[in-house]
Amino acid sequence: MAKYNDLNPKEWKKYSDIYTDTLWLIDKRDNSGVHSGAYHGNFVPQIPNQLLKRYTKKGDWILDPFMGSGTSIIEAQRLGRNSIGIELQQEVAKEAHQRVIIEKNEICSGRICIGDSRTFDVQQILNKEMINNVQFVIFHPPYWDIIKFSDNPNDLSNSNSLDEFLNNFGDVIDNTCKYLEKNRYCALVIGDKYANGEIVPLGFYCMNLFIKRDYKLKAIIVKNFEDTKGKSNQKAIWRYRALASDFYIFKHEYIMVFKKVK
Ligand SMILES: C[S@@+](CC[C@H](N)C(=O)[O-])C[C@H]1O[C@@H](n2cnc3c(N)ncnc32)[C@H](O)[C@@H]1O
Repeated sequence: MAKYNDLNPKEWKKYSDIYTDTLWLIDKRDNSGVHSGAYHGNFVPQIPNQLLKRYTKKGDWILDPFMGSGTSIIEAQRLGRNSIGIELQQEVAKEAHQRVIIEKNEICSGRICIGDSRTFDVQQILNKEMINNVQFVIFHPPYWDIIKFSDNPNDLSNSNSLDEFLNNFGDVIDNTCKYLEKNRYCALVIGDKYANGEIVPLGFYCMNLFIKRDYKLKAIIVKNFEDTKGKSNQKAIWRYRALASDFYIFKHEYIMVFKKVK
């Protein structure tokens, strides 16, 4: 049995729900229980669900430094994993807390913290929980300025340049992954952006931040995304613009998995 999950490869036929390919086509978000698609910029629960089943065991600790509406905390609770979420915006964190406690799982802890993940004192939370490290970190940062999440200058979506965004994200990696147990995994969920007539490959720039820090790249998964309601009304106009110009309309984002080996 692998040391980082509860799967038994000999019983591989039992795991038809677990993806093993690098193309994830998810046609409908899981809206069960307290999950809700209402937070603009959230990810589908299937992403943390798949990653947690594959890279963690029951009782492990998960850290989400860009918690948003708490999707990964809810999934961690459902799967019997302990979790810590950090979110910059107090109101967003409070709202997440309201939903997380509705599905409270008595056998694990779902802790929600408010703060800037570049500088947040994670050690103090680990001390309170009497643990030394976490076994998985899931990063779903702003895709730079594609969605402006707040007016707070510490919000990564308010970074003034690509370099500033990457420096800020690097600071979050350093401040959180130092608590990731050796030989365990972290994942990045991110999309690219288009500006001034060219693609800004945020996914690959961010991937390099991990590689520079000696993390082993384990997966580059391409996941489809469906249009938000607002965008789907504009489908025809975007199709017209694409045909009249030289670009393709983004329909995918990346999920990258890294292993901490040092
Ligand atoms: C892409 S969203 C994450 C959504 C989340 N996965 C969900 O399902 O709701 C990014 C989040 O990061 C938060 N954020 C931005 N800068 C931050 C920082 N420096 N520290 C902590 N959170 C930050 C934003 O407020 C936003 O809620």
